[in-house]
Amino acid sequence: MRVLGIETSCDETGVAVYDTALRGAAALRAQALYSQIALHAEYGGVVPELASRDHVRKLVPLVRQTLAEAGLAPADLDGVAYTAGPGLVGALLVGAGVGRALAWALDVPAIGVHHMEGHLLAPLIEDGDPVHGRPAPPFVALLVSGGHTQLVAVEAIGRYRLLGETLDDAAGEAFDKTAKLMGLPYPGGPQLAALAERGTPGAYRFARPMIDRPGLDFSFSGLKTQVLLAWRDSDQSEATRADIARGFEDAVVETLAIKCERALDAAGSDTLIVAGGVGANRRLRERLQAMAARRGGRACFPRPALCTDNGAMIAFAGALRLQAGQHDDAAVRAVPRWDMASLPPLA
Ligand SMILES: Nc1ncnc2c1ncn2[C@@H]1O[C@H](COP(=O)(O)OP(=O)(O)OP(=O)(O)O)[C@@H](O)[C@H]1O
Ligand SMILES: [Mg+2]
Repeated sequence: MRVLGIETSCDETGVAVYDTALRGAAALRAQALYSQIALHAEYGGVVPELASRDHVRKLVPLVRQTLAEAGLAPADLDGVAYTAGPGLVGALLVGAGVGRALAWALDVPAIGVHHMEGHLLAPLIEDGDPVHGRPAPPFVALLVSGGHTQLVAVEAIGRYRLLGETLDDAAGEAFDKTAKLMGLPYPGGPQLAALAERGTPGAYRFARPMIDRPGLDFSFSGLKTQVLLAWRDSDQSEATRADIARGFEDAVVETLAIKCERALDAAGSDTLIVAGGVGANRRLRERLQAMAARRGGRACFPRPALCTDNGAMIAFAGALRLQAGQHDDAAVRAVPRWDMASLPPLA
């Protein structure tokens, strides 16, 4: 089954074709991504109306480009998957409208995919490591993106139980806001991580939020305030900025690692999968891999380009559901707020 995936939930237009008849890396026949970062940079954040309008401009050309790269005509598609939510309603409506209309015209099934299920399944798109292969449920998932920080017990694909989540800022949001207050340009998260590579470990030590409390929830907004105070009282040199970035990154990484280990204990699992933009963070990857290995388990990540928003994860998640016989009615569906636990199981 050849499924076209469309992602337009926020500030990235992503398109991909996933072919369930092919194995390994070849199954992802083509993908293309257009980022709106430059458009929103002058405002220091995503402007929803501008985001929607840019998706309108970019989506159809990107669909054409992706099909051409896959060597396929529209009539070769067997299904269409689009992000139905959660996200910005105007942005979602563009992908939903185009995806639904295309499926209608081609007389193939369409399905609205949950964006966070897309992220969660991204580590399963490719073959995994040569020894263990692709991870299979049950496992624990850490979703760490710009809008979410969640620990989820995955009993089966489609059966998700929330173990804990952030009470305020998401981990990616904390990276972006902390970068901004130290003067890094938008979106600062990846730049802050790059800066941290040059910082001295231990030069600044920030508290690990909520690790002394029971439960698996997170809170990152206080960490941002600690950084603000440290930065304000410092000499604000390049070296100090790197040291503070390192202190901040270490606090986030260690907090996430401690809670992940507790989540594995709570779920009785030794397999952790990690997805979302912060999953691209090198130090987080190393720390979680070491923690899982110490328990005799493993931590699995998508390659960094599949951690942030992309069309491949939507094509893949949609293909799994379409293959299981699920599809939506002939309606354009956009669900700005959507609880992942309400999704139907796959089989
Ligand atoms: N190397 C990195 N280290 C830390 N954070 C990173 C890194 N790379 C990307 N990020 C962060 O990842 C986030 C973007 O990830 P993603 O595209 O998954 O989020 P989103 O789609 O905006 O949010 P959501 O999926 O919750 O709607 C940004 O907050 C960015 O700062
Ligand atoms: Mg995302």
